[in-house]
Amino acid sequence: MACEEAMQTEELEKTLTEEEEKTAKDYYFKSYSHFGIHEEMLKDYVRTDTYRRSILQNTHLFKDKVVLDLGCGTGILSMFAAEAGAKRVIGVDMADIADVAKEIVKENGFSEDKILIIKGKVEEVVLPVDHVDIIISEWMGYFLLYESMLDCVLFARDKWLSPNGMLFPDVARLYVCAIEDETYRREKVNFWDDVYGYKMSAIKAMAMTEPLVDIVPAKQIISDTKCILELDLYTCKKEDLDFTSNFELTMNRQDFAHGLTAFFDVQFSKCHIPTGFTTAPFGEHTHWKHTVFYLDEPIRAIPNSKVYGSISVQKHPKNPRDLVIELTTESPDSNQARQTRRYLMR
Ligand SMILES: C[S@@+](CC[C@H](N)C(=O)[O-])C[C@H]1O[C@@H](n2cnc3c(N)ncnc32)[C@H](O)[C@@H]1O
Repeated sequence: MACEEAMQTEELEKTLTEEEEKTAKDYYFKSYSHFGIHEEMLKDYVRTDTYRRSILQNTHLFKDKVVLDLGCGTGILSMFAAEAGAKRVIGVDMADIADVAKEIVKENGFSEDKILIIKGKVEEVVLPVDHVDIIISEWMGYFLLYESMLDCVLFARDKWLSPNGMLFPDVARLYVCAIEDETYRREKVNFWDDVYGYKMSAIKAMAMTEPLVDIVPAKQIISDTKCILELDLYTCKKEDLDFTSNFELTMNRQDFAHGLTAFFDVQFSKCHIPTGFTTAPFGEHTHWKHTVFYLDEPIRAIPNSKVYGSISVQKHPKNPRDLVIELTTESPDSNQARQTRRYLMR
């Protein structure tokens, strides 16, 4: 086994001790306890305004309904739902921000009868109702599935959503496309080949193993895009979130593909007019940015040449909020050998 491959495997197979596992979980909710992360999300206008429109332009759906706001954070979506005429909104969040949300809803004139904030894990809390009519949740992580919060939405759906209940959003899709990224790859990966004259191959291997989350300018996309996962939130199961997808990309210019980038979109399909947003490089930027998987060997692309790929996404066995992603690509059109790499998103 080549040295780099061995390091890849070792990195991925490292299992967390119980203590580390607990720390990872604590860290997750701790990160949502500080107002900074909520400020970043609230200032993401694409995100927050789409949720606002999906709720406030659809008061006919919310009027007199019981709404669960799963992972309510500051309570912003709870307040939209109450303003849209919901009979009662129940906001649940495990992070300390829930204590602040209680103050926020009060400050804005909502009584506990209108918006009840419960601090706790959705898997453990007791709701004051047996069923809810609508579940709203902003659960999407980087690469859509990172953080695995969708599992909690599915848990809540199966436990509390009434038979004709609605989910906001209710459709999510994940896509990939090929990108040219020589400059950035050099800056982020090849940098470790020569650091003031010293080699730091161990860090280079780590940099290759972790997908990079950053903005990819649309002009760097050199192929069409393919959907690798489509989720109907009414019917999907937890098991569907670990998946393998085969795809075929068609290159649209002569260049080198240094990696693939992934992005997602979500839809609120019950709305009166189509409502949703995309995190694609060719859309407005969002705080989710784009997720880049660098290839070991850049692929020579010519117009209409094909790259055949396979991507498999699994939750990390010890810390399910992390993802293990395996990507295989080959391009017979440019005599490019098959290459496979495992990535760890943490
Ligand atoms: C992405 S934030 C969204 C916050 C807010 N809804 C908004 O749109 O601004 C997700 C929130 O869900 C909470 N959360 C994640 N998993 C949870 C769980 N299992 N139980 C309760 N809260 C959870 C996090 O603490 C975090 O505050």
